[in-house]
Amino acid sequence: MATSKPKAKRPAVKAKATKPKAAARGRKPAPKRPTKAAPAASAASGATTDIESVLNERRIFAPSASFAAKAHVPSIAKHKALSKRAVENPEAFWGEMAKNVDWIKPWKKVLDWKPPFARWFDGGLLNLSANCVDRHAATWRKNKAAIVWEGEPGDERVLTYGDLLREVSRFANVLKSLGVEKGDRVAIYMPMIPELPIALLACTRIGATHSVIFGGFSAEALRDRINDAQATAVITADGGWRRGAEVALKPQVDAAISGAPSVRHVVVVKRTGTAIHMEPGRDHWWHDLVEGASPNCPPEPVESEHPLFILYTSGTTGKPKGVVHTTGGYLVQTTLTTKWVFDLKEKDVFFCTADVGWVTGHSYVVYGPLANGATVVMYEGAPKHADPARFWKIIEKHRVTIFYTAPTAIRAFMKWGAEWPRKYDLSSLRLLGTVGEPINPEAWMWYRREIGADRCPIVDTWWQTETGAIMITPLPGAVPTKPGSGTLPFPGIVPEVVTRDGDPVPAGSGGLLVIRKPWPGMLRTIHGDPERYKQQYWSQIPGTYFTGDGARCDKDGYFWIMGRVDDVINVAGHRLGTMEIESALVSHTRVAEAAVVPRPDDLKGQAVVAFVTLESGYHADPALKDELKRHVVKEIGAIARPDEIRFSDALPKTRSGKIMRRLLRDIASGKQSIGDTTTLEDLSVLAKLREEEE
Ligand code: WTA
Repeated sequence: MATSKPKAKRPAVKAKATKPKAAARGRKPAPKRPTKAAPAASAASGATTDIESVLNERRIFAPSASFAAKAHVPSIAKHKALSKRAVENPEAFWGEMAKNVDWIKPWKKVLDWKPPFARWFDGGLLNLSANCVDRHAATWRKNKAAIVWEGEPGDERVLTYGDLLREVSRFANVLKSLGVEKGDRVAIYMPMIPELPIALLACTRIGATHSVIFGGFSAEALRDRINDAQATAVITADGGWRRGAEVALKPQVDAAISGAPSVRHVVVVKRTGTAIHMEPGRDHWWHDLVEGASPNCPPEPVESEHPLFILYTSGTTGKPKGVVHTTGGYLVQTTLTTKWVFDLKEKDVFFCTADVGWVTGHSYVVYGPLANGATVVMYEGAPKHADPARFWKIIEKHRVTIFYTAPTAIRAFMKWGAEWPRKYDLSSLRLLGTVGEPINPEAWMWYRREIGADRCPIVDTWWQTETGAIMITPLPGAVPTKPGSGTLPFPGIVPEVVTRDGDPVPAGSGGLLVIRKPWPGMLRTIHGDPERYKQQYWSQIPGTYFTGDGARCDKDGYFWIMGRVDDVINVAGHRLGTMEIESALVSHTRVAEAAVVPRPDDLKGQAVVAFVTLESGYHADPALKDELKRHVVKEIGAIARPDEIRFSDALPKTRSGKIMRRLLRDIASGKQSIGDTTTLEDLSVLAKLREEEE
């Protein structure tokens, strides 16, 4: 049962509170019509402490009685009780939740907190692959589909939990035979094929720490990450399929390894069959090694705090941060959130469209669903191949029940048109989710109507690479949803909106999103750089974890995320450090200086705009713009390609020489008023930049 209220107004300086009780009164839904609320992502541009909120969304959708009746968390009263208990006694709560996981030896202490360093379930021993595979293969689930995979060309594979146990064990033995030991780092650079989760699980089986590098990253980015982690082995493929073409991977690995002396072995899956170079002694075909490997490999017990994986993410400096996650706490939180947030049941078919190269793929394609014994749908390619209905075909064919994707994808679906999903039977769906960036209410409503048939609850899940698992989210049987809001904290999570000094802001006001208490899935450090971990996350607002996001909390306690407040751009749900893109630009011989800022983009959330000053003697010409875009793609990968390059004689700077990005952001998004320029050193620079725009 849904209840709608009048559509959002904009701009509104102060957010009006919503009235959740209206839902209970059971009014009829308002006529279906799109809203024109501002994309929430743009709200935080230029933000410091007083972030202005422009979103005033008043609709509310209560869980249907039939959904709630069967849900794991079936009412708001139950949600409140769980949250109260979790906040009052977090150790008792998380200790109880940890029983969802199989421990080889029980922990001694739930939490050992020496700020900002946490140890969860200390003293406990477990194995992650045993949790995701063996414990299911030992039951009737042996013949249940664990992974239903579809390649972009249309090929299919289904692996049962029994198959997965065999394949993971064999590949774990392969890793051992190559000398990979507990604690070693293994770099994984693969397309979305079943060997990818198999490789992850095989690493965890022997206690090796994996570092997945998204297949869209360039050889340079791959090399930096291999070197930072000092990986001894790389697992890759000849290539993968995307948009009907081959994405070559092995040649990138060859180029990366030429400058990565720690790598001793490369294992290559034959996916596309294209001709590649195989270096004798170093490179091995996956199928050759696996053929001779034993399917028995006892899982290695590891400490709860054993490093499970490193995942690189963008920060505010040029150097990517290797976010370190450990085993026990991460598994407890991913397992529990998968169960409660997606209300996962035995018969569900779970389709998360994220690439395993990102944290969403780690937590909700691989670990969370498999730990729960679910059936996971995995798709290799692009959503538009061979036509824009690919996801809808997959949902119809495999009777997908839970669909989890990104707002940027939803906006693309809207653009391609509702006629595509309407051609397919989506009636198997019972729950929809979003992640990666704020969702604008218009896209939320479209998703609900066109994909969810006004019937499926939507869970808008806020979390980060650093948090490991979902943190702010509706629980679908309990929490009434408001389009554009991640709603309430997951039980046991304590977020707050504060000023730069750490003081709470009043309900409805914008501020900085912090997390007050440690949580099991939290990052433990930055690989090789604990100082940076302290500085980046725990020092900006003393004693508290700072997320880097702006947010507001309304008077019902609902969180509205407004996007990044630091120099990080969120393009299509992926965080890119502006510094990294700037460094790439400046590494080009003709570029003297560069500043990269976001501009709101209907499809991608944010687009990348680069302001570039050339070395003297070089002329700005359109060909150079293309060359610089290509240069960034080579240095970082296609995901970072600037959408727009603007040449400028100079960049606006403060007297102390700091580039005034706020002004550049305003110019990039075509805003008229550009605010306070009192600290600007040379006003004529701005005038010139605006001329360039004309
Ligand atoms: C943004 C992805 C609004 C946010 C799991 C966060 C969101 C960053 C949401 C983390 C959401 C993620 N609503 N914003 N539901 N989910 N974000 O590390 O800015 O790739 O800090 O992790 O994405 O991105 P990351």
